[in-house]
Amino acid sequence: MNLRKIVIAIDGYSACGKSSTAKSAASILGYRYIDTGAMYRAVTLYFMEHHVALTNPKEVARSLQQINISFKVNSRNVSETYLNGLNVEKAIRSMRVSERVSEVSAIKDVRTAMVDLQRKMGKEKAVVMDGRDIGTVVFPSAELKLFMRADLLVRAFRRQRELLEKDRLVDLDDVISNIVQRDEYDTTRTESPLRRANDAILIDTTYITLEEQVDEVVRMALARMMTSN
Ligand code: DC
Repeated sequence: MNLRKIVIAIDGYSACGKSSTAKSAASILGYRYIDTGAMYRAVTLYFMEHHVALTNPKEVARSLQQINISFKVNSRNVSETYLNGLNVEKAIRSMRVSERVSEVSAIKDVRTAMVDLQRKMGKEKAVVMDGRDIGTVVFPSAELKLFMRADLLVRAFRRQRELLEKDRLVDLDDVISNIVQRDEYDTTRTESPLRRANDAILIDTTYITLEEQVDEVVRMALARMMTSN
């Protein structure tokens, strides 16, 4: 059977399993996975390392021109983020970057540059892209749109465990306050705030496992891939 290529847009709140779900679903479907949060994190890292004044639009615009972001699949078939040729996968996940990323991703010029790049990356379709504005702004005509949410405490425990797996012990209160702060920032910013697209399917991940999330997404994706339009 000939399956058509589609764009799968996964949006939702911080730490509710978007990336893990998107990554596994992409691998099962043979699709490319694009982590747009990683792109905003890479910009944030660059701005921090180069002491870019976020309130100076000229400096921001100039710096954006110096930034080259790409993804490469490593030997374990895991996609990793590169900033100007350097692997920054680990550095962009630090709490230091997490604390600044919402502020950076609220800047209009930053969003314009990233959205352009994301559209280029998804032009050929056959992609699973996760973020906050994929179904609303980046690919409003994506064939499958999902919106993920989960209870705060469950998200915080999951994120804390994820950090622990990377040998980083972060206090649960700090994880909670970072998630709350990012939710607030992401949903209230003027530029492309986080919101569910009218045609996005809601998935609440509070009581379901990662495997169940992935199965659900793959099942829905295959159904879309089999339809002719
Ligand atoms: O998915 P994440 O937690 O790695 O994303 C990091 C931040 O980037 C998040 O707090 C909001 C921002 N972001 C965004 O504004 N738009 C996207 N499409 C993806 C992420």
